[in-house]
Amino acid sequence: MNDFRPQAVPTIGWHYDRMALALHWISALLLVLMTGLGWYMMEIEHTPAAKPYFIVHKSVGLIVLALVLWRLWWRSRHPVPQLPSKMPAWQLRAAQLVQVGLYLCMLVLPLAGIAGAIHSKSGLVFFGYSLPRLAAPNHDLAETYFDIHGALVWLLVLLVCVHIAGALKHRFIDRDGVFERMVPGRD
Ligand code: HEM
Repeated sequence: MNDFRPQAVPTIGWHYDRMALALHWISALLLVLMTGLGWYMMEIEHTPAAKPYFIVHKSVGLIVLALVLWRLWWRSRHPVPQLPSKMPAWQLRAAQLVQVGLYLCMLVLPLAGIAGAIHSKSGLVFFGYSLPRLAAPNHDLAETYFDIHGALVWLLVLLVCVHIAGALKHRFIDRDGVFERMVPGRD
């Protein structure tokens, strides 16, 4: 197997641990599926067929939020590998800003969905179970939260595109091993 690690980079602290890799790829997959599902259910929103899609979307959304919280907790306890010190300062800053933006979106997006669902007529559900009502239905408030929810999806899409472009730059232009350390089985 090729070792893409540059010689100057120390081995200790260069790789992500298995849990960090698993949480990264599971949450990435679920976010893509949730975005597709969300847009699809908006297409069929006013048909009887939409109900099960809403139930799955709300339920998986709660799981995604739990995963993001777990990921943040894990990250706070396990050192994150550094980026190569030869990277220009503006690129390090941009990478950090995008990461902070991604974490904020991954947190606030499901929270806005939950807030909207809490104030909607159908309320919060987790697969077959209706969760306790935390607030009286309020159509206007629910719509405001759903507008924030829908807008944050576009911000998330934008940040993910920049994040992927950066990863591909590391893989094909810089060839500095940063891309490979997020690929399971490449360490
Ligand atoms: C975790 C990541 C999530 C993603 C990526 C996501 C994505 C989306 C998308 C793309 C839409 C369509 C927005 C539009 O085009 O206007 C949507 C709508 C919706 N989402 Fe989410 N969602 C997530 C979490 C949640 C959670 C946790 C809940 C509630 C428990 C939720 C409840 C809803 C509801 C009820 C709608 C319909 C809004 C409306 O009727 O206008 N979502 N979501």
